[in-house]
Amino acid sequence: MELHTTKCSRPHFFGLSIFLAFVVCLASAEIHYHKFVIQPTPVKRLCNNHVIMTVNGQFPGPTIEARNGDTLIIQVTNSGKYDITLHWHGIRQMRTPWADGPEYVTQCPIKPGGTYTYRYTVVEQEGTFWWHAHSKWLRATVYGALIIYPKLGSSYPFSKPAREFPLILGEWWNRDPMQVLRQSMITGAAPNVSDAYTINGQPGDLYRCSSQDTTIFPIQAGETILLRLINAALNQQLFFSIANHQMTIVEADAAYNKPFTTNIVMIGPGQTTNILITANQPPARYYVAATAYASAPGVAFDNTTTTAILEYRTSSSSSIRPILPQLPAWNDTNTANSFSSRFRSIYHGKVPLQIDENLFFTISLGSINCSRPSFRCQAPNNTRFTASMNNVSFVLPRRNSILQAMYQNTPGIFTTDFPAVPPLQFDYTGNVSRGLWTPVRGTKLYRLKFGSSVQIVLQNTNIVTVEDHPMHLHGYHFFVVGTGKGNFNPRTDPARFNLVDPPVRNTVGTTPGGWVAIRFVADNPGVWLMHCHLDVHIGWGLAMVFLVENGVGELQTLEAPPLDLPQCF
Ligand code: C2O
Repeated sequence: MELHTTKCSRPHFFGLSIFLAFVVCLASAEIHYHKFVIQPTPVKRLCNNHVIMTVNGQFPGPTIEARNGDTLIIQVTNSGKYDITLHWHGIRQMRTPWADGPEYVTQCPIKPGGTYTYRYTVVEQEGTFWWHAHSKWLRATVYGALIIYPKLGSSYPFSKPAREFPLILGEWWNRDPMQVLRQSMITGAAPNVSDAYTINGQPGDLYRCSSQDTTIFPIQAGETILLRLINAALNQQLFFSIANHQMTIVEADAAYNKPFTTNIVMIGPGQTTNILITANQPPARYYVAATAYASAPGVAFDNTTTTAILEYRTSSSSSIRPILPQLPAWNDTNTANSFSSRFRSIYHGKVPLQIDENLFFTISLGSINCSRPSFRCQAPNNTRFTASMNNVSFVLPRRNSILQAMYQNTPGIFTTDFPAVPPLQFDYTGNVSRGLWTPVRGTKLYRLKFGSSVQIVLQNTNIVTVEDHPMHLHGYHFFVVGTGKGNFNPRTDPARFNLVDPPVRNTVGTTPGGWVAIRFVADNPGVWLMHCHLDVHIGWGLAMVFLVENGVGELQTLEAPPLDLPQCF
């Protein structure tokens, strides 16, 4: 359901002004209207019937397409049974944090029967984005692609592909994901792992009762196509490959990079990767496949493989089983790291060289001790799992959203004492004493002055276990200036930072037992969530929030809240 209007189609009296209006119109932006209805939808997967939450009955949900500079107006009606919000992952929401979406951070959820209209303009961004529910585990099925094309008259920094396809990797449970989450919240143990991975909603030929609906990507011999790869899986980094075809990587997280070729992609939840492939192989059918990259030793994961088919139009051999690509072992951290380390951006923005805010955040799992065995403490040794940043396990408020409370000066919803450095220094990646495994709880924000240059070193720890956490920052993209193994060394590591052409991302992995350093300029006022994009960890508190103050004048001040902003009660 989409309607278009141009922002400049006002009738004019004089011929000349009509002509001028027409010229201006060619270069100017459109407004796109969408109606999204969240609704329970029957689907059949893995031999059984299920009812899942979708948008407009579609799974994956509708693809939104617009151009850089356009405005999107998406009216969301909740006809489901759960509170919900939607997030437009990667869109900066300049001055419009009200449309960002994380529940209880920038808005109260849309209640069943309720409606909220998200309005925002795409400001100097283009590439592959996606949208997803940002409430509990609803994004397991409520997600879709969001594609921003270059402005009229400009184009990609590579030759235009013959065809483009969104390729969304997902994660499927045979039970209502909300119930899987609920059970884990009660028991304190890790939630059940998924039953399948999916490509555009379909598990593919390697699962029971799934071959009939396997996703097909048609290709013509000789042509080059663009795959817009999105990892919408809830809890799993994935390796991705295509049999017999080299992939050329040209963009990640809606930032172009210097193209490089590879046979393997590693993509974390939240990330996007644009891939060019050329049909230069004998006409046939080739598998596209994805399987887990599970970085935490000893942690259970879904060890299955999803497939789709790259099918040459001229292929006559559709009865022959396609060839599977060779995928790395599930624990192949070297392959994962060497892929991520190849990105060099061609972004023209400037890397901040002077730092105003030098932040060091530990990102940790954790555990809460129960004095005795209880059904509430079913993690190992009568504990409950938890997680934290700088020893603070993030708690969402319930009575109001943080943004609303900030805007209206409502006390008691949050504090602004999130620590700039860990409260205690220790050997983060060594053998961490049990006494340091239990964080404090709180809704703590870190305050940033408008325009300040920020560096954050995200330090993985060995509390419970090391793991690659895909860290996502709302409202911004950032430069990834450095990464390394072990503990970050502030004396020697900065000398090796890439301040020339570092990758630009909105979601970055932290190598298991290592660190990653990012930089950005706080030029977007509002409250912005930073969190691990493994949903299992968000629920445990692996998140924090930045409060970015207004600057000077209207253009550096966040907009007033929309009138239909949902209220918590
Ligand atoms: Cu993809 Cu907080 O989101």
